Amino acid sequence: HSLWLIVPAAGQGKRMGADKPKQYLSLGEKPILAHTLTRLHQAFPAAHLVLCLDSDDRWFNPKWVPFSQWQRVSGGAERMDSVLNALNAINAQENDMVMVHDVARPCITASDLLTLYHVAQQHPSGALLAMPVADTMKRASAEQLSTATESRDRLWHALTPQSFRYALLLRALEYASANHNVVTDEASAVEALGQAPKLVSGRRDNLKITHPDDLALAAAIMASQVAQSSE
Ligand code: CTP
Ligand code: MG
Repeated sequence: HSLWLIVPAAGQGKRMGADKPKQYLSLGEKPILAHTLTRLHQAFPAAHLVLCLDSDDRWFNPKWVPFSQWQRVSGGAERMDSVLNALNAINAQENDMVMVHDVARPCITASDLLTLYHVAQQHPSGALLAMPVADTMKRASAEQLSTATESRDRLWHALTPQSFRYALLLRALEYASANHNVVTDEASAVEALGQAPKLVSGRRDNLKITHPDDLALAAAIMASQVAQSSE
């Protein structure tokens, strides 16, 4: 079956507060978007890329796309709308694999990508990269007082990529959309159908660049990953 890579990149980067959307900020010699696409291409050179871009995007340059098969689609109001636009634009078969990865996660490694793809193929409900919670978790009151401690035993951070069969993901996001349920990841939409995607323990350095100080962190992570891979 074919692999469709969907990269939502239609966000505004409000928390970053820069003069352009965060995916166009430079990390070393090229923008975050170019790093993310390069990492995806290294793992899946034959995949078909669907890039969700804001229809008013003034910064995108196709020279940053290393894929030979790719298309752009318009973003929607929310991340899930952008992903739904991508699913509706492609000519996929029901059982094709779809993998969704945030453009803001350029530190993704080939080994995590390949592991996730492998696990997702074996699980009918799909799979996502995730990381067990390490800190003690507090329940807060409206006044920001610590009122209880939640067990972290079975708590995970959800990362991307997340990967599902095309028909399941389309059904899940259409269901969320019809119910006005704004989900922040694909797995939530699949869970709402009563299905349980597999959690795949991913690297802890798969950072989502969100705030200004994440840029230096991402640069340091990428430099150490490159150093390790050439050792
Ligand atoms: N995204 C998208 N379409 C939207 C909103 C977000 O494609 N309508 C994408 C972003 O470009 C990003 C991913 O979804 O790759 C995760 O979103 P987030 O980290 O929240 O990015 P932004 O929405 O750009 O940032 P902020 O919430 O700070 O504005
Ligand atoms: Mg956002």
